[in-house]
Amino acid sequence: MPQVALDLSRGCGNPVGFADIKSGDVVVDLGCGAGIDLVLAAERATSDGRAIGVDFSSRMIERAHQAVAEKGLAGRVKLHVGDIAELDLPDSIADVVISNCVINLCPDKDAVYREAYRILKPGGRLAISDIALTEEMAPELRERFQAAGAGCLGGAIAESGYWRMVSDAGFGDLRTVNRHILSNDELRALASCPGEEFCPPPSAADLALVAGRVASVKFTAVKSRSA
Ligand SMILES: C[S@@+](CC[C@H](N)C(=O)[O-])C[C@H]1O[C@@H](n2cnc3c(N)ncnc32)[C@H](O)[C@@H]1O
Repeated sequence: MPQVALDLSRGCGNPVGFADIKSGDVVVDLGCGAGIDLVLAAERATSDGRAIGVDFSSRMIERAHQAVAEKGLAGRVKLHVGDIAELDLPDSIADVVISNCVINLCPDKDAVYREAYRILKPGGRLAISDIALTEEMAPELRERFQAAGAGCLGGAIAESGYWRMVSDAGFGDLRTVNRHILSNDELRALASCPGEEFCPPPSAADLALVAGRVASVKFTAVKSRSA
């Protein structure tokens, strides 16, 4: 893996590991960052397939271009600067949509899942790593996390609402691949993403209020073949 993609990797799982990507697949990575999952996906899809990365940070897209070029994959990877809640991609283009620790950050998560559904082919699948809460947090605590720049915590929603949102977007056969409650160290690292030098951790008292209530979730879901 190119060093640039490794150094800037900020995921909370490995969606390519459970996305069942096959040779010839078109894979879209929502919030691709510096391209770590995009490179892995393009390799799995082989030269018959392709991978498309979308991220609203042009600097991340530049780094992803670098990573993809270093791996000799430029011919089969496309990169777009854009908002994943409003994708500039045609309907039914993808066999697989992946995303790694991004959707929790998005203010309009419903729109992201509606867009994922729209761009998937009938029978296409979703493989997602994300952050959710075991129960809803108090609005004032959410505001404090957002004010402190702790986007992953400030944006995360309760799991019950999360699963409802995925099925409301049209997806079926929702399967949890893995669910893990973050340890206190993991919670602190998540709250300071991308690093304490950029985002000082929220107060210990606020972190204690969500300790044991933040889950890293990995799941798959499917767009029906008859959709
Ligand atoms: C925690 S990083 C994860 C990056 C990458 N998936 C990885 O595993 O390394 C979140 C990424 O999502 C991007 N992002 C956040 N909200 C977005 C949105 N609404 N549309 C597009 N990209 C977004 C950020 O620019 C950032 O690159």
